[in-house]
Amino acid sequence: MSATPFIMDHPLIQHKIALLRDKNTGSKEFRELIAEVTMLMCYEATRDLPMKEVEIETPITIAKTKVLAGRKLAFVPILRAGIGMVDGALELVPAAKVGHIGLYRDPVTHKPVEYYCKLPADIGEREVIVIDPMLATGGSAIDAIKMIKRRGAKNIKFMCIIAAPEGLNALTEAHPDVQVYCGALDDHLNENKYIVPGLGDAGDRIFGTK
Ligand code: URA
Repeated sequence: MSATPFIMDHPLIQHKIALLRDKNTGSKEFRELIAEVTMLMCYEATRDLPMKEVEIETPITIAKTKVLAGRKLAFVPILRAGIGMVDGALELVPAAKVGHIGLYRDPVTHKPVEYYCKLPADIGEREVIVIDPMLATGGSAIDAIKMIKRRGAKNIKFMCIIAAPEGLNALTEAHPDVQVYCGALDDHLNENKYIVPGLGDAGDRIFGTK
């Protein structure tokens, strides 16, 4: 049984995604919005981090309170657009390590081709959050997660800003153990495998390459 995907419906996330969709939003604002949405989404995706009880002395008394139990985190952006989400993620979890996975979509077959993978050496001991703004066919996410699992990661989540139903279904079927977090679930993919209504090419809009 796969975990039910978590579609964020927080007003701040929805508002910022609306601005991301607007074709008149320029690269600078686009990058800032991607970071802000990622930060808000990370807040939700880290909700189940384990905690431990500690005793501290407040100015008033001794108190039993909770702090993070120290489980280590790694963010793994899928190149290239995933890089745009790293700053927002690290803003919230500055101690996290960052791995990188490079895949591209073959323009003819639309299948992912691997060209780069560099992960923290202790990836097997970390909670891993794979990040990519757009979950379209799901091919890159499925392959990236396979590569990360092959290198020993056991605890993996996937976070995207916009998903297509086609990609979401494919990903949850291929990796039922991976909890998926999306900012919005859109209508469908068009004939060029772009998400509709989507926001266009996230990588081009982040890096201003169009
Ligand atoms: N990648 C993008 O950047 N946009 C899409 O719509 C689909 C894949």
